[in-house]
Amino acid sequence: MPRAKVTFEDIGVTVDVPAGTRLIEVSERVGAGIVYGCREGECCTCLTRIIDGYGNLAAPSVLEDQVLKDNLAPRHHRLACQAQVLGGEVVVEPG
Ligand code: FES
Repeated sequence: MPRAKVTFEDIGVTVDVPAGTRLIEVSERVGAGIVYGCREGECCTCLTRIIDGYGNLAAPSVLEDQVLKDNLAPRHHRLACQAQVLGGEVVVEPG
């Protein structure tokens, strides 16, 4: 199975995960500071800044896109409970 690397800038940790893993799952596992609420892409609590490797995440769903717009999310921010890592390297920090 393809794998990907995720780095959490806030705690300086890099982890190797299977492709398809959502950012929030990795964050929980390593104790990074991404907080969350609904985990269903609705509350925007888990807003996360993608510092590098934005293109290595699956494209946002229509719902995620809408929630990001409704909450005036800056460019290159994603919902950690929705964003799946596809491969390569991704660097993030709580948004
Ligand atoms: S936890 Fe609610 S949108 Fe991610």
